[in-house]
Amino acid sequence: MPIVSPRFPPMAIPEDNPTSVQGVELGRRLFYDPILSGDGTQSCASCHAQPFAFSDHGQRFSRGIDGSIGTRNAPALVNVGWNLHNFWDGRVETLEEQALEPVVNPIEMNNTWENVVESLRRHPDYPRLFGHAFGSSEITAQRVVQAIAQFERTFVSDDSKYDRFLRGAALLSSAEQRGLELFFTETGDCFHCHDERLFSVGDFRDIGLDSIPPDPGRGDASADPNDVGRFKIPTLRNVELTAPYMHDGRFATLEEVLEHYNSGGVHSRNVDPLIRVGRGLGLTPEQKQDLIAFLKTLTDTSFVRNPQLANPFE
Ligand code: HEC
Ligand code: HEC
Repeated sequence: MPIVSPRFPPMAIPEDNPTSVQGVELGRRLFYDPILSGDGTQSCASCHAQPFAFSDHGQRFSRGIDGSIGTRNAPALVNVGWNLHNFWDGRVETLEEQALEPVVNPIEMNNTWENVVESLRRHPDYPRLFGHAFGSSEITAQRVVQAIAQFERTFVSDDSKYDRFLRGAALLSSAEQRGLELFFTETGDCFHCHDERLFSVGDFRDIGLDSIPPDPGRGDASADPNDVGRFKIPTLRNVELTAPYMHDGRFATLEEVLEHYNSGGVHSRNVDPLIRVGRGLGLTPEQKQDLIAFLKTLTDTSFVRNPQLANPFE
């Protein structure tokens, strides 16, 4: 079951976890099943909800099963099969490694893998479903995260108005067209980091949010002082649905995001040379609105309503 999109680069899929219809179906159930959490109340979808492009219901920080609150905003899960790194600091590479973490994170699902595996083994359906997906009914933590990763690789969003425009199947309004030009030229200068396909070139940048970043971001994962304040460039596909914005959800609206870039941000040790600290972009209020109109063409309603990505228990 190859996952291809005509406009995206080939997806790198781990050799030991090829995607199959049965694996994706199992992963879908696991993604939506609160059986993974310590008290049976929370699933991955509790913080990654499809109508919000798999971000957390407009919340700045997510609440774990015990009511604890984290310090980073739950990212949207959009075209994550192409992620080169996962988490804002990129501390893991594959989706398989990523899925190991929330289950045992004390401020998230707060469970143990022994416990998860035990409850799945005792379940009336799961042993059979693991058999279909992996050829034997053996249940291990590795197989759980492999199935979830297979499901996440089907989170493909490539049917926004922008994509239909590129295929010649939709027209942009004049505001959207002007916004597109600002985005992809030196005036707005967004495209160097948010490219025209996945809308993230995939590496880590400091965009001048804080002079002394309270969260070291990439610097946490790499222990390199040159990485402090850098965060993974998020995709902008479906960004209209994923407020609030940035790693800590500090901006409630796209207007606030545009105001940040337009002001030029603040100087910090690792601020990216593309950010015009002290000068700003010099956009007029109308140009900011045009850029926002363009960003909204990246909303893909067929993705957020795709029945194959929806809760299988409903
Ligand atoms: C309590 C809320 C919560 C739950 C439950 C949760 N997540 Fe997340 N998720 C987050 C937050 C917050 C982050 C960002 C953390 C960071 O960057 O340090 C995140 C990050 C991710 C990422 C990285 C995306 C990227 O582009 O970097 C993936 C993938 C993901 N979660 C999948 C899952 C899966 C699969 C599950 C279930 C096994 C799950 N999440 C459960 C809140 C949650
Ligand atoms: C130097 C690279 C770079 C440039 C140039 C850049 N961005 Fe970003 N963008 C990022 C990074 C990195 C983040 C996340 C920063 C963080 O959370 O600390 C981000 C975050 C965003 C977000 C929030 C997305 C979310 O899910 O939270 C939006 C919206 C955005 N950028 C739009 C734009 C627009 C519009 C432009 C052009 C005016 C632009 N960016 C220019 C790197 C860049």
